[in-house]
Amino acid sequence: MKTKNQHIIDLFNQRFTCKKYDKDKIVLKEDFETIIEVARLSPSSFGYEPWKFILLNNQKIKDQIRPYSWGGHAALDGASHFVLILARTAPDMQPDSKYIEHIHNNVQNYPKDMVAGRQKRYGDFLDKDFKINESARSVFDWTSKQAYIPLTSMMLTAAALGIDSTPIEGFNQDEVHKILVSNGVYDPNHFKVAVMVSFGYGEPAKRFKMRQTLNEVFTEIN
Ligand SMILES: Cc1cc2nc3c(=O)[nH]c(=O)nc-3n(C[C@H](O)[C@H](O)[C@H](O)COP(=O)(O)O)c2cc1C
Repeated sequence: MKTKNQHIIDLFNQRFTCKKYDKDKIVLKEDFETIIEVARLSPSSFGYEPWKFILLNNQKIKDQIRPYSWGGHAALDGASHFVLILARTAPDMQPDSKYIEHIHNNVQNYPKDMVAGRQKRYGDFLDKDFKINESARSVFDWTSKQAYIPLTSMMLTAAALGIDSTPIEGFNQDEVHKILVSNGVYDPNHFKVAVMVSFGYGEPAKRFKMRQTLNEVFTEIN
């Protein structure tokens, strides 16, 4: 019988980036709901969840972004589900923004008398500890960094459900952003596309894991 540990290693060995989808195989509704739910449950810095997930079904918009998405052709052509992962822009992430206020008050239920202290700690983190507030770009890079956490949760959950996935960074971010905004997909004051991911069933392919050895990537300091 396999150990729990071996089950986990097998799951990670079985997840591959899908390079060609079988168009006719559709991900079940309940499976996609599970994939989105694990995204929602993913952890984030300060618990501020600086992301949004959009299931893009609109073929016209998919056709428009295709020429600027060189790494996403297989996904756009054949995947059952195509998801945009958006990250929040700099104004939303400021300690006194409406968005952070919403998270404090309605999600984290912070006691009113503790909000100012929390804002101060977060402001210092942004300005001094990680210097995230150096530019709008550095804030967006930080929120994007976090958007990759749900990305990973989603892909591994898909693998556990026997569903293939493709993480997609192979696109021109500014061009794709412009197209999505011009189609009213999201408000650029609050979001920009950080990364994309697709789900479906791949056509059988010979695949093997190419990775550095454990010694190359792991060290123990005593
Ligand atoms: C953030 C990120 C972006 C990626 N972008 C693309 C992409 O645009 N197109 C693609 O086919 N693969 C993309 N990949 C897949 C990687 O090339 C792949 O994960 C890597 O070669 C390891 O292979 P494996 O996922 O099959 O184990 C991306 C992977 C990650 C993590």
